[in-house]
Parts: sequence; structure tokens; C-alpha cells
Amino acid sequence: MDRVLVFSVPWLALFLVLTTTWAEDRLINPSQLEMFVDELPDMPRIHGFDVVNGVPKPKRLRIGMFKKEWKFHRDLPPTPVFAYGVSKNNATVPGPTIEAIYGVDTYVTWKNHLPSKHILPWDPTIPTAVPSTKKGIPTVVHLHGVIGEPESDGHAESWFTNRFAEKGPTWTKKTYHYRNFQQPGNLWYHDHAMGLTRVNLLAGLVGAYIIRHPKVEGPLGLPYGDEFDRTLMVFDRSFRINGSIYMNSTGNNPSIHPQWQPEYFGDAIIVNGKAWPHATVRRRKYRFRIINASNARFFRFFFTNGLRFIYVAADSVYLEEHVVTNEILLAPSEIADVVIDFSKSKSDTVILANNAKYPFPDGDPVNEANGKVMKFIIKKDKEVDTWRVPKKLIKYPSPELSSASQTRYIALYEYTSNTDEPIHLYINGKPYEEPVTETQKKGPQRYGM
Ligand SMILES: *[C@@H]1O[C@H](CO)[C@@H](O)[C@H](O)[C@H]1NC(C)=O
Ligand SMILES: *[C@@H]1O[C@H](CO)[C@@H](O)[C@H](O)[C@H]1NC(C)=O
Ligand SMILES: *[C@@H]1O[C@H](CO)[C@@H](O)[C@H](O)[C@H]1NC(C)=O
Ligand SMILES: *[C@@H]1O[C@H](CO)[C@@H](O)[C@H](O)[C@H]1NC(C)=O
Repeated sequence: MDRVLVFSVPWLALFLVLTTTWAEDRLINPSQLEMFVDELPDMPRIHGFDVVNGVPKPKRLRIGMFKKEWKFHRDLPPTPVFAYGVSKNNATVPGPTIEAIYGVDTYVTWKNHLPSKHILPWDPTIPTAVPSTKKGIPTVVHLHGVIGEPESDGHAESWFTNRFAEKGPTWTKKTYHYRNFQQPGNLWYHDHAMGLTRVNLLAGLVGAYIIRHPKVEGPLGLPYGDEFDRTLMVFDRSFRINGSIYMNSTGNNPSIHPQWQPEYFGDAIIVNGKAWPHATVRRRKYRFRIINASNARFFRFFFTNGLRFIYVAADSVYLEEHVVTNEILLAPSEIADVVIDFSKSKSDTVILANNAKYPFPDGDPVNEANGKVMKFIIKKDKEVDTWRVPKKLIKYPSPELSSASQTRYIALYEYTSNTDEPIHLYINGKPYEEPVTETQKKGPQRYGM
């Protein structure tokens, strides 16, 4: 009897260890997560300007990157993430929305408070920022869509670690300067560190940035203000049953790149940091700036009750005239800026859905989980709506293309392994690390309005 006990206890312990490990590696089946239970969050809004005597003035911001936990769904355990925020307490995924004013400078000191160990697997066999001390996670912030000085662009090699302890070869300064001297529109900021961009973004380092031009946009009469003008940042993630973000740690070509997976697709569709949220809206017009912050997933959005989108701007510029459409196809990093008139809805709830195959255009069809995005609950009372969507929006001066003196053809090559999986990319036969071959002429700076 004793002998059996002596042997069975370690076996039982081993069995428990194995079950736990196996369980933690198992993924949440998205059908276990009830949809539309969390309310759509609005990310904190930070002004990139001060107002002095009614006049907007330049402002200095400090925004940190923190490791913390984030609840992506009511029934998911807290997920370790990397988040942007003014403080760790109010850091969010996505990060705060920065609202700037045309022509008024915004200065941001981006501060890296991340620990040494990444929460996701990364692959040192692709060109990657690796601190010589092996301490700290390299980060650098790129503001996508910005027209600005190279020193504030967030070049992949301008990375830095916690407390600026170590810096990449092209690092020049701590505080970035955004002149906001470009057409009003939508930009987004995200991590850009060499070889780590995909994992740092998947960990949560993304946020929206809006440039407003009250004189030009005000007269349009589009929905405006915190309630009616909102950003929707959409991305996909998969989760383990312990709540952590799942990323496959076996590469597509494990003998060449042990971990590197060139594309990421997740099972759950996340809007403003919540999986399939819901929002209660009034029976009137709203403006939504929809940013696709997925790694590889395209979205083709449509409403299940035929409600339509009024497209007013794409990426960082307005359209000359609005376009009414039943669906929106959005590639990664694209932004659709649309007005939705809920007074036109024939039902009191409507689902924003997605039917883009993944990978786009001929991958798998969507399923019950990734074919749904979020639900709108529309209040019954009809309201007087003072917002308008004029046919004519903003006409920009035509670009001066006639000054181009040379035409060059550029070939992008994707090298694949014998299993037809990508290994690396070359431009005109040269890898990214090669010295610069072109010196372009500085053009006229005609971004003003
Ligand atoms: C969740 O499980 C994974 C895989 O076993 C593990 O690496 C990770 O540390 C766990 N996370 C938490 C928060 O327990
Ligand atoms: C975040 O928290 C800091 C203090 O920790 C506070 O000063 C700041 O106003 C907060 N910002 C937002 C956007 O909530
Ligand atoms: C992870 O990727 C490897 C290599 O592409 C693949 O064989 C494996 O099935 C993937 N695992 C999961 C859980 O998708
Ligand atoms: C979203 O953007 C990512 C890149 O950031 C892209 O790979 C993906 O296809 C886009 N998805 C949609 C729906 O536009």
C-alpha cells in the first residue's frame, strides 16, 4: 500500500503539471466569448495644444509605454499588454487619442518604461534591434501619415530602451516635434522598432492622432464633439485560456527563422480594446474614424440591416465629395472616415460585420467570430439633427508633378523558401541595411491650406 502511494504521488504531480501547461497553451475558442457584452470604450483624448486667451498654443506632452494588464472582454482573464498613456494608471490599449490643431506645434516626449522581457515571442534571426546589454525592449514611435522632420519620424533604427539607457544608430533626440502643418485628417501612432514592430504592436502599442483645422472643417457642419465624432481602432487578436495574447512561436520556416511568422491573424475582433463591443447611439448622425490596426487582416465592413456609410475622408485627407457606400474595404493601416446616419436605420440594433477573406483576397472565408465586429443599439426617439454632410468637402490644390526629372522602376522581391513561405524582401536586389542609393531633391513645401 505504502509503495503504491510513494510512486503515485509524483505521477499525479507530473500529470497535474502537464495538464496545466497544456491548458495554458490552449486557445480561447471565440465562441466561448459572448459577443456585444462590453461597452465600446472611448480612448482618453489628449489635446496637443494649450488654449491661451482663446488662441491655441504649442504644447509639450509626455507619453509613456507601460506594461500592465488589460481586460479585452468581460469573461477573459486580464491580459498582459504594453500600453501608451500619460501614466501607467491611465495607459490604455489602444493608447490615448491625440488631438492637434493645424499649424500649432505639438511636442511629445515618448518614454519607454517597459521591462526587459517581452510578453510575445520575437525572432533574432531577422534584422532586429537588440540592445548590446540585452536589457530593455527597444521601442520608437512612428506617427503614420505625418509630414515632418526626419528626426521626429520614428525611424526603425532610432529606437531606445527604458530611460533611454540604450539607443539605436539613428537616434537623435528624446522629444519629437510635430508641426501639424498638413491637411486636417487622421493619423495613427505605433511602435516602429526594427524587427520588433509586429510584436510591439500586437502587445498594444497603437493609438490615434487627429489633426483638426477648425476654420476649414467647421463650416462643413459634420458631426463634431466627443459624443458624435469618435475613433474606432480595429484589430484582431487570439487569446490563451489564461488571457494572454497568443502568437504562434514556431516560424513558417522554422529551420531558417525559428519564430518569424510574416502575418498574424487573430480570432477575436477588437474595437477600442474590447472584443466585439456594443455602443448605444442616438437616432442621428455620427462620425467614425475607423482605423485598421491589424497585422494582416483586411476588413470589408458592412451593416447587417443595409445601413450605409457616407465616406468623407480616407487616411489623412478629405475627399473632394462624399461617397455613399454599402461597404468599406480597409487594408492594414488604412483609415476610413465615415458618417453613419442612424436615423435611417429600420431596426433598433444593427451589427457592423466583416466579410473579407483572410489573407485577402483569396484566403479563408470569415466565420461566426471574425465576421462580426460590433453592435450598435439605436435609441428609439427620433431627434432633430443639426449635423450635415455636404456633397462638396475639401478641394486640395493639384500637386505639381511636372517637376519630376527622372522615372525609376523599383522592383520589390519577396524571396520564398522551398515550401513557398517568405524568407526576406529585397528592393532592386538590395536588403534594407544597404547604404542609401538615392538622394531626392527637396520639393516645395506646399502642405499649407
Ligand atoms: C499564460 O500561459 C502562457 C503559456 O503557458 C505563459 O507563457 C504565460 O506566462 C501565462 N500568462 C499568465 C498571465 O499566466
Ligand atoms: C492620467 O493620469 C495623470 C496622473 O497620473 C493625469 O495627470 C492625467 O490628466 C491623466 N490623463 C488622462 C488622459 O486621463
Ligand atoms: C504554428 O505555426 C506552425 C508553422 O507554420 C504550424 O505548423 C502550426 O500549426 C501553428 N500552430 C498553430 C496552433 O496554429
Ligand atoms: C488592417 O491593417 C493591417 C496592417 O496594419 C492590414 O494588414 C490589414 O489587412 C488591414 N485590415 C483591414 C480590414 O483593413
